[in-house]
Amino acid sequence: MKRIGILFGGKSGEHEVSLLSAAAVAGAIDRNKYEVVMIGITRDGCWKRFSGSLEALPDGSWEKDAEEMQISDLPHIIDFALPILHGPYGEDGTIQGLFEMLGLPYGGCGVLASALCMDKVSAKKIFEMEGIPTCRYELVYAEDLQSDPQSVVSRIEECLPYTVFVKPSNMGSSVGISKVTCREELLAALQLAACYDRRIIVEEGIDCREVETAVLGNHRPEAAAVGEIVASADFYDYRAKYTDDAGTVLSIPANIPAETAEEIRELACRAYKALDCSGYARTDFFIDKKTGKVYINEINTIPGFTKYSMFPLLWKEKGVSFGDLIERIVDLGYERYYAENNRQTVLRR
Ligand SMILES: Nc1ncnc2c1ncn2[C@@H]1O[C@H](COP(=O)(O)OP(=O)(O)O)[C@@H](O)[C@H]1O
Ligand SMILES: [Mg+2]
Repeated sequence: MKRIGILFGGKSGEHEVSLLSAAAVAGAIDRNKYEVVMIGITRDGCWKRFSGSLEALPDGSWEKDAEEMQISDLPHIIDFALPILHGPYGEDGTIQGLFEMLGLPYGGCGVLASALCMDKVSAKKIFEMEGIPTCRYELVYAEDLQSDPQSVVSRIEECLPYTVFVKPSNMGSSVGISKVTCREELLAALQLAACYDRRIIVEEGIDCREVETAVLGNHRPEAAAVGEIVASADFYDYRAKYTDDAGTVLSIPANIPAETAEEIRELACRAYKALDCSGYARTDFFIDKKTGKVYINEINTIPGFTKYSMFPLLWKEKGVSFGDLIERIVDLGYERYYAENNRQTVLRR
């Protein structure tokens, strides 16, 4: 029986979310088909193998009953890696690079797609090149902000009207993001974003509805239903995402015209291919409330994966169960791995 290693926790600010997602994923895998090996990464980056009950994941108590392990043990204890880690060092291509080096097949996007999707500026540049509509933005370097903040502020004000959103290019979970409505707030927002990354993106704020779709596949990706997030907060900030479940409602399928849903699904698959995604990803869009125009916001390569998360719910709407979804993700990971191995064998001949 193949041993599927579920990697969870991690060093990012999204450690807790990962615990919830990983417990749900591990609970849904068909144990008649796969053996599950749980591998936790603590907040300070220690790797530990955990064999206890999944109930010990959400509250962090798994840590005290887990055995320390070395990264080099990984290929000896698992056959396939399924990273359920969010944010930096999990979703950004770094751990995917480690799996490549260890020769392990794994679930989800590869190194390049993971890194591109995590970096908002790089993803936007490719969306623009591919003609996938995305909102206007300016790139700011932390170094320029430090040396000449006034000229940075003037440049932004020349290019973009308020409201703007200020974000670190390479983060997730709304950490370091501010909604800015006037000059007085702009500098503080830029400085906050600069704490997280040297590249900062300032985007035109869209008065929008937020919709998402779930994509699955390698060469021929398919999109599931489109769902809407009705956030309780002013924007879908960290609190609204993970703490205030009662106030954030997911509407599945989204109450939007059928042509708009079709446009979103088609754009999602194009964006997925443009960033070289494989396995699965959740693709997020804005719909301008006034004009109805659709903009891509971002692709999340390891989206939230609890039973209440958008990604599995959008597939459930299409008749794919949580367990089947994970099986598809594992199969797609193997498909990519074997295709790559075959290419290398042919080249060596
Ligand atoms: N350009 C924008 N216009 C309107 N709302 C935005 C814009 N950018 C971000 N937001 C709001 O901020 C939230 C977080 O931004 P996002 O770019 O998705 O960051 P993260 O990677 O942290 O999820 C979005 O879900 C949305 O509510
Ligand atoms: Mg987002």
